[in-house]
Amino acid sequence: MQLGLDGRKALVFGSSGGIGKAIVESLLKEKTHVVVNSRSQDRVLSTVAEFQKAFDTKNVFGVAADLNQKDEATRAVKEAQSKMGGLDILVVNTGGPAKGSFEDISTEQWLSDYQNLWISFVDAVKASLPEMKKNKFGRILLVTSLAAKEPLKGLTTSNGLRAGLSGLCKSLSNEVASYGITVNVILPGYTNTDRLKELKLTEDTVKGLVPMGRLGQPQELADLVSFLASDRAGYITGQCIAVDGGALRSF
Ligand SMILES: NC(=O)c1ccc[n+]([C@@H]2O[C@H](COP(=O)([O-])OP(=O)(O)OC[C@H]3O[C@@H](n4cnc5c(N)ncnc54)[C@H](OP(=O)(O)O)[C@@H]3O)[C@@H](O)[C@H]2O)c1
Repeated sequence: MQLGLDGRKALVFGSSGGIGKAIVESLLKEKTHVVVNSRSQDRVLSTVAEFQKAFDTKNVFGVAADLNQKDEATRAVKEAQSKMGGLDILVVNTGGPAKGSFEDISTEQWLSDYQNLWISFVDAVKASLPEMKKNKFGRILLVTSLAAKEPLKGLTTSNGLRAGLSGLCKSLSNEVASYGITVNVILPGYTNTDRLKELKLTEDTVKGLVPMGRLGQPQELADLVSFLASDRAGYITGQCIAVDGGALRSF
């Protein structure tokens, strides 16, 4: 299937590793121009160099920015627009939030995770919308978690904050649809990345939770993002789509 992503311009937050990096790779296979982001300048530069070599292209760029810090998402969008000469596709994939039960989580932690998961998305969208509206084209994609639909044990801030992000995206999708801009949320299930190791979830534990009986591979989610970013997905908006091997039982 021709996705028509050739020459489109994308910024993928949190993309020096894991799911974000797989999204960059998938977009590059479609000849999209991409800006890679993470907190670490070194990781950003090495990821850009790796992809420039692998795809024999100069159309991969880097912007280091920490989404936990106020105004960094806005700065990153502006730099990405300047490096690529525009921005058609915004993928907000943040680092995973803190682990802890309700009574373990301090107010400071709530505020920090709110900045990371929520405000970074709001700011990045605000910075991207004027140009997307002018072009009558835009794709906004947010990577959250299956926690947005079913709470995961010990991930209190993720459970609380991410459910609300689904509502925000539905609301936003109504406002921007007439400009040819779609807004969709991707809910990863148990996916084989460093984050899963950090949460100490082994393949054996996950097998019992997932009908498919295995971990998801980042690429399996990334290819959905490429499709949703394409012209072919222009009538899909306001959706929350899980890539989870059937783990979610809710409708
Ligand atoms: N893996 C799973 O099973 C799973 C399941 C459900 C939901 N999710 C969610 O999916 C998202 C991606 O997960 P993942 O498994 O790909 O995580 P990961 O392997 O830990 O990768 C996270 C990426 O984000 C970057 N990053 C972390 N904090 C950042 C910040 N403050 N600002 C900018 N970049 C930042 C990291 O690079 P640097 O460290 O260099 O900054 C890295 O490139 C997370 O929000 C996670 O909660 C994952």
